[in-house]
Amino acid sequence: MRDDPHLARIDAYVEQLFVPADPALDANLRRAEAAGLPSIQVSPVEGKLIGLLVRLSGARRALEIGTLGGYSTTWIARALVPGGVVVTLELDPHHAEVARHSIAAAVDGVTVDVRVGRADEALQAMAASGELPFDVVFIDADKPGYARYLELVLPLTRPGTLILADNVLRDGAVADEPPPDANAAGAHAFNRALAAHPRLEAVILPVIRDYVDGLALAIVTG
Ligand SMILES: C[S@@+](CC[C@H](N)C(=O)[O-])C[C@H]1O[C@@H](n2cnc3c(N)ncnc32)[C@H](O)[C@@H]1O
Repeated sequence: MRDDPHLARIDAYVEQLFVPADPALDANLRRAEAAGLPSIQVSPVEGKLIGLLVRLSGARRALEIGTLGGYSTTWIARALVPGGVVVTLELDPHHAEVARHSIAAAVDGVTVDVRVGRADEALQAMAASGELPFDVVFIDADKPGYARYLELVLPLTRPGTLILADNVLRDGAVADEPPPDANAAGAHAFNRALAAHPRLEAVILPVIRDYVDGLALAIVTG
């Protein structure tokens, strides 16, 4: 992904104005780095945006696919109504362990359940066990899995559920025919499925970092 100082300057401008330093979130990033996790979490500005969207939706129950160190989980959990619940799915047990520590130090009054394993299997098991519907879903795991995750989360939603998905523009690589790599191809397939889905109304919001990525927003209509 390109490292464009002009875009990075715009991102820094918004962050400095709207995302004040937060000791628990800063500690989350330091703990993740010290534990050797890759720095692939949402940006502070995107975390703030996701938190605002979750709060706007009045959500009590959130589902996240792709926990990493629990940075986005924290933004989501803090935006839920008191007594809310986050279920977050993570393949890597080390990531999950780091996340549990950081989340415990940053989140109050909301239950966060970090579940280790393959997200596709977890989603199928949740549907089979009659898990209550979620008010918000955030998809942010392996990009080739995105279109499949979209299908698997729908039985876990209700009309009005907000579905968010990160990294869906990939600096424009999704517009190439064919997409240049497996991640772009995954996002490309997801975007097409999202746009065409009869039960979803959706759009993509560009997100500026030091390149341009995108956050997909969809509402379950029926
Ligand atoms: C981009 S990171 C998540 C970042 C996190 N949402 C944040 O912004 O703080 C993607 C995470 O998905 C996890 N992952 C990858 N494939 C997965 C799978 N099949 N099932 C569950 N988690 C998976 C990775 O281990 C990684 O921790």
